[in-house]
Amino acid sequence: MLYSEKLTEAVKSLSEKISAIPDVAIVLGSGLGSIADSVGSPKVVRYEEIPFWPRSTAPGHAGKLVFGELEGTKVVLMQGRVHYYEGYTMEEVVFPVRVLGLLGVKTLVVTNASGGINESIPAGGIVAIEDHINFMGTNPLIGENDDKSGPRFPDMTEAYDREYIGRLEKAAKKENIDLYRGIYIAFSGPSFETPAEIRMAKTMGADLVGMSTVPEVIAANHMGIRVCGISCVANAAAGISKNKLTHQEVLDTMKGSSESLCRLIFAFLRELR
Ligand code: HPA
Repeated sequence: MLYSEKLTEAVKSLSEKISAIPDVAIVLGSGLGSIADSVGSPKVVRYEEIPFWPRSTAPGHAGKLVFGELEGTKVVLMQGRVHYYEGYTMEEVVFPVRVLGLLGVKTLVVTNASGGINESIPAGGIVAIEDHINFMGTNPLIGENDDKSGPRFPDMTEAYDREYIGRLEKAAKKENIDLYRGIYIAFSGPSFETPAEIRMAKTMGADLVGMSTVPEVIAANHMGIRVCGISCVANAAAGISKNKLTHQEVLDTMKGSSESLCRLIFAFLRELR
């Protein structure tokens, strides 16, 4: 079956399940799922109910879409994403973004947990992603281009919408949240980076490191969906601190940051209106 046919089936199935098309999709990263509890009159769709939708296997990722309203805006929250390191193809990794884009979503808010490379950003810090470096060694647009989805060579000069960064900063100010700005570099994982890799990433201009987000952001830009990226620094990247890295540390820090992140997202949605 063609990828485009799988997309069409998933879109059809979802549109039959929901009563209104969301304007904003919010992808919730590791340990950030709790924001879904705030959605008014939620309609939950489990991933297994949607044809061809990839299931997340990473700890800290549930597998459901929550449709409803936040701050008067129609949203869909994606609780649980899939990663390239899980063994999915890049096409599969971006399948959810493509489906939501075809459904009519105009804005994608992507959140993630990251390692901090820039030492002026502390663990627990919240960062507006300004730009990224794709260091995953592949790209979700490799292969035949579907000209109906977007151009063969999409522009990436403003992969993270500048107006949204401004609104995010306004929102953070109103909420008294320290908001940093940073460049996110994506490695494939699943091993954490070595200290030498982190030194390289720092030299290349990266402030944050992670294993997600970049594929989704590339696909969203391809489709003309505007992107807002927010990262929570869960730990100092390898070699920056003397500690060894564990996923448990990531989840523990994210638990502490999720309340501020929720407030920031709510305030951002108010700024969008
Ligand atoms: N490296 C890569 N991904 C991550 C990290 C890290 O240090 N922390 C959270 N996600």
